[in-house]
Amino acid sequence: MNTQTDLIPNKTISKGVAVPTKRAHVTIQNLCKDFAGITLYKNFNLDIKKGKIVSVFGPNGCGKSTLINMVAGLMKMDAGQVLFDGKTLEQTKIGYVFQNYRDALFPWMTAWDNIAYPLKRMGMNKEQVKSRVEELINLFEIKFSLNQYPYELSGGQQQTTSIMRALACEPEVLFLDEPFSALDFEMTLFIREKLQETNIKTGVTMVIVSHDLEDAVFLADQILLLTRRPTQIAALLDFNMARPRRAESVSEVEFIKIKAQALEIFKREMHKAI
Ligand SMILES: Nc1ncnc2c1ncn2[C@@H]1O[C@H](COP(=O)(O)OP(=O)(O)OP(=O)(O)O)[C@@H](O)[C@H]1O
Ligand SMILES: [Mg+2]
Repeated sequence: MNTQTDLIPNKTISKGVAVPTKRAHVTIQNLCKDFAGITLYKNFNLDIKKGKIVSVFGPNGCGKSTLINMVAGLMKMDAGQVLFDGKTLEQTKIGYVFQNYRDALFPWMTAWDNIAYPLKRMGMNKEQVKSRVEELINLFEIKFSLNQYPYELSGGQQQTTSIMRALACEPEVLFLDEPFSALDFEMTLFIREKLQETNIKTGVTMVIVSHDLEDAVFLADQILLLTRRPTQIAALLDFNMARPRRAESVSEVEFIKIKAQALEIFKREMHKAI
């Protein structure tokens, strides 16, 4: 399978042979993680190219959330190293969109204040904050009032607010853990399109965990398929369909083909004995 052009496992995909990488943005090296004596990751290696969208897909409990949490610095690794353009996490601006947006927003702040929060923390003055929030309002074509509190917003509006907050500081890398899992179909289409637009306009690298294969494929430049634990890379599929992809793109032959290929690999992993 020739799938190693952009997102390159720097050791593990075939016979442990290291593949030299170019223009890697996120470099994961020899990452190890055990939980209660059970090995989740052992010497896991992966490079993610700058500006790409990588969808992470794999069996339940294989460690998708744990992987992005460790890379984003929300969870400690037991061993290994993650670099961003050669820099450490502390030297890098990242954004993170939590799966449970209801708990992720500050309930005592309006949507506007939630989005402005990281900008104020960065030391921006009032005018700068206002101008950045307005940019995001335009990008996301916000029609609802951001003067409302999270509990006054629909699920889709809350998730939109969380994504705007995560993008506010113009991160180099945006991590999203199942961003569509609690959204209805209409909102899923909207958010999917906005994430794609953001990637095209800003070139932010995105790592998206999704349990919906269609969402994963729709957004991906690469689909990262994981094995069961101890988790390794089952396959890396490049998907070069032209952008912007539209809702109708999912019915096109090249879309159906890559989805079928990913499904086959996923099913193979699912049926392996634990
Ligand atoms: N803090 C923790 N303490 C102990 N075990 C944990 C912890 N976090 C995750 N695990 C275990 O590690 C494994 C991977 O969990 P993780 O949540 O990363 O999987 P996932 O692929 O995101 O699963 P899902 O598809 O259900 O979201 C699971 O077996 C889980 O029980
Ligand atoms: Mg998860």
